[in-house]
Amino acid sequence: MERSPNSQRRRIMIAATASAVAAGAAMVLRPSGVVIAHPHGSPLAVELGDLPVGKLRTVEWQSKPVWVLRRSEGSLAALASHEDLLIDPESQQSMQPPACRNRQRSLRPDIFVAIGLCTHQGCAPNLQGDSGFLCPCHASRYDVAGRVFQAGPATANLVIPAYRFEADNRLLLGVDA
Ligand code: FES
Repeated sequence: MERSPNSQRRRIMIAATASAVAAGAAMVLRPSGVVIAHPHGSPLAVELGDLPVGKLRTVEWQSKPVWVLRRSEGSLAALASHEDLLIDPESQQSMQPPACRNRQRSLRPDIFVAIGLCTHQGCAPNLQGDSGFLCPCHASRYDVAGRVFQAGPATANLVIPAYRFEADNRLLLGVDA
């Protein structure tokens, strides 16, 4: 039986949707009727307009805490000063989007985004001002780019999720840059 181009297109769309769902991707139906697959799960918008310098915002996404920190100039300047004390200063072994593989581990220097779970056993580290994060469970330390210090049991930098900026003060988690 011959199929119309429309019916073939529909079959292809259904097949693509099914395989994406099987892979755990989130599906979003656009008003146009086009189904968009999000490989990182449903996106979440985070507003930054009221986030002061030095403050950390935590949002829940994919059942995980995600941090958004507006870093100060001083904390950014300090990133180059302690790299000999880090396990993976260039994030060679660490998980982050390709565009975040830089000293700041971010798309924009002032805004740091990371999964807020220690890479040792998953506790929630605390922000210690401009010096970074300290995990209360076994004292692993991370700088404000989420790079782990050698002194402590964690061996991997904090995980950076996919995100992109939609505007100066609005980012979208779960979407590639
Ligand atoms: Fe963070 Fe062990 S869970 S140091």
